[in-house]
Amino acid sequence: VKSIAVLTSGGDSQGMNAAVRAVVRSGLYHGLKVYGIQRGYQGLLNDDIREMDLRSVGDIIQRGGTILQSARCQEFRTEEGQKKGAEILKNRGIDGLIVIGGDGSYQGANKLSKLGIKTMGIPGTIDNDIAYTDFTIGFDTAVSIVVDAINKLRDTMSSHERSSVVEVMGRHCGDIALYAGLASGAETILVPEVPFQLDKVAERMKENFAHGKRHSIVVVAEGYGKADDVVESLNKVGGIDARVTVLGHIQRGGTPTHNDRVLGSRLGDFAVRRLIEGDSGKGCGVINGELIATDIDKVVNSKKPFNMELYELAVRLSQ
Ligand code: F6P
Repeated sequence: VKSIAVLTSGGDSQGMNAAVRAVVRSGLYHGLKVYGIQRGYQGLLNDDIREMDLRSVGDIIQRGGTILQSARCQEFRTEEGQKKGAEILKNRGIDGLIVIGGDGSYQGANKLSKLGIKTMGIPGTIDNDIAYTDFTIGFDTAVSIVVDAINKLRDTMSSHERSSVVEVMGRHCGDIALYAGLASGAETILVPEVPFQLDKVAERMKENFAHGKRHSIVVVAEGYGKADDVVESLNKVGGIDARVTVLGHIQRGGTPTHNDRVLGSRLGDFAVRRLIEGDSGKGCGVINGELIATDIDKVVNSKKPFNMELYELAVRLSQ
């Protein structure tokens, strides 16, 4: 490849900018022309494409969001949309594309690969729901934000001997709830991967309060259900005073942690090098510290395994 483009697509995540910076600077380092596409696949279809230089990605590694902006694009899900996108890239002489995003973004990259554009996917989402990588870019920052919020909730919950039910993002994946719950010493972690009856949560809470606990934290993944429903059912049981906190999009903002910046930088550079080697239709990831590229078909058709060992640990430690 001689000329590559990069776009960010789907829900943004902290560390996407580090990945964009790495793609641009690594591409330039290897003598490629590098283009940035604004607003994901929608921007591609609008030909909203500009050439990037070293300075276009200066002062962004520490910023949340994505300087390339993002969008969810319906038109690109159609065959006509995909063909139009491939044509636009070809007309501009762009033969490689790096897509930073989640599942839907990967599927688009796969389609373009089959239309003759060399593509690589980089996992950018706070959800940590992409297979063939231990972590996605943004997950570490999102978990830190949740942990920080729970630390604050603990203070006021203890003062009032209340229970806090905190709803976190993750779409169908319980990883944000799992990691944040373990890291913040939550009493109960409700995730879609593990069936858990709400009456058991209430029983446990009452027992723990009877044994001297002054507060309790329940973390509920949005894929499990709504914090409002959990609180409603807990408050029906006598003696429990539960409150709802829905953290929402706060989890997607703010400066990325060093882990997300390092991950974004490594994956951005790796994707460029794989394109230069002629690879295409792959999703990049890091497993046990090693960079790997896996067929996108395989990535999108696999479910990331849930870390039961961590879940069981959290249960054992929350007695
Ligand atoms: O995929 C990232 C994510 O933040 C999910 O955790 C959440 O379900 C969804 O996006 C929210 O989407 P939107 O930003 O479109 O409201």
